[in-house]
Amino acid sequence: AEIEGEEKAELTMPPNVPPPIDRDHATKLTVDLEVVEKEMKLADGVTYTMWTFGGSVPGKFIRVREGDMVEFHLKNHPDNKLPHNIDLHAVNGPGGGAESTFTAPGRETVFSFRALNPGLYVYHCATAPVGMHIANGMYGLILVEPHEGLPEVDKEYYVMQSEFYTEGDYGERGLQPFDMNKAIDEHPEYVVFNGAVNSMMNDKSITAEKDDKVRLFVGNGGPNLTSSFHVIGEIFDKVHYEGGDHVQKNVQTTSVPAGGASMVEFTTEVPGNFILVDHAIFRAFNKGALATLSVSGEEDENVYTGQQLDRVYQPEGGAIQEMPEEKEREIPTAQTVEERIKFGQETYMSVCQSCHMKDGSGVEGAFPPVAESDYLNDDPKKGISAVVHGLSGEITVNGETYKGIMPKQNLTDEEVANVITYILNNFGNDGGTVTPEQVAEVRE
Ligand code: HEM
Ligand code: CU
Repeated sequence: AEIEGEEKAELTMPPNVPPPIDRDHATKLTVDLEVVEKEMKLADGVTYTMWTFGGSVPGKFIRVREGDMVEFHLKNHPDNKLPHNIDLHAVNGPGGGAESTFTAPGRETVFSFRALNPGLYVYHCATAPVGMHIANGMYGLILVEPHEGLPEVDKEYYVMQSEFYTEGDYGERGLQPFDMNKAIDEHPEYVVFNGAVNSMMNDKSITAEKDDKVRLFVGNGGPNLTSSFHVIGEIFDKVHYEGGDHVQKNVQTTSVPAGGASMVEFTTEVPGNFILVDHAIFRAFNKGALATLSVSGEEDENVYTGQQLDRVYQPEGGAIQEMPEEKEREIPTAQTVEERIKFGQETYMSVCQSCHMKDGSGVEGAFPPVAESDYLNDDPKKGISAVVHGLSGEITVNGETYKGIMPKQNLTDEEVANVITYILNNFGNDGGTVTPEQVAEVRE
């Protein structure tokens, strides 16, 4: 194709993508990308020295048109400590450009490539030790739009999964150094979308309106894991799996390999929060691979009704007149505070632990801690109420806000007294005793 004119590419930080290309011809397109090494937030209270393409993790999104002659400028900021280069999977040429772009701090290198193959491609640093450069944040996506363009949609977003291998365990505070052994063992502490836990949650959620056509450009920087990418409550109408031309329709979960990508499209038929996850599910709920697409608009009961019923279920059916006798559970009565705490621990481990964790630390962004909880210590009655009535709506615990739903727990007054007393006397809380009488009062 003939090259006409020249332009400078507009690059965007995640979750945004540059607008569709409306040119009907190939051009000489200049791409400027600056490597920046800087300390960035990985999770609440946790930072990491990220090596970035353009100041964000993943790096800036690059959008070019099939046939474009791309003049690529890689700049390494003078304050950086290390040389870097770039391998773009969209390039036909040695190292995907890496051989032409080895760039020391304070230098700039240039090479040009023809965007021959349309598709969605990963780019990454390929400077030794390659794994370490990728593990520290050096990856992003480049889209080569086919000449005819992509079908028009209402919303486009950039979502890229990756892992972090920190010396400290998940959530351990402070600046966390890279742990090479965990990386070699493929045991990440963090698996995240767009470079940090909660990068797209609450007020940073990506958004759409009911009936929007949404396209996600999904990448996986790895460095090691394949993503089982899924959006809870949605079905992908179309998946350009592996970022290529083939389209699979009606897909629930799509694999995105390390160093690979996928374009997924769906229509948001009903409002609500739709959660993006790696469906290798412990990564989502325990390592950070969660994000929210928040859809606004009118409910449509022809598509989804919401709950229509919640009532007592009697397996014997309506024909049986007699109420089956409530099977008595053995609930020992605590005679001393020590016993209350001991019985309370048993209840905690069988009922509460699954959400609030064994050590009471909760799950960031989902379940508040009952350890050192200002919310609970301020007034244990609020804790009792959470258990007997359930709890929902926004609450603040130790400075973090939670907007979850805690179901009411089917426990006796004695059991609730025990479990709250156990919590108050453990996990760094302020101590105190709760009696079944106090629980009965809150229950009323
Ligand atoms: C909130 C205790 C079981 C999910 C709370 C709070 C307490 C508490 C004291 C208030 C905030 C805080 O101090 O951290 C307990 C006890 C449980 C139990 C004693 C067992 C008897 C569960 C379970 C789940 C859960 C099984 C998950 C299914 C939540 C959520 C909140 C919460 C999401 C925050 C609600 C909101 O954001 O409004 N819980 N919990 N809890 N709990 Fe539990
Ligand atoms: Cu590098």
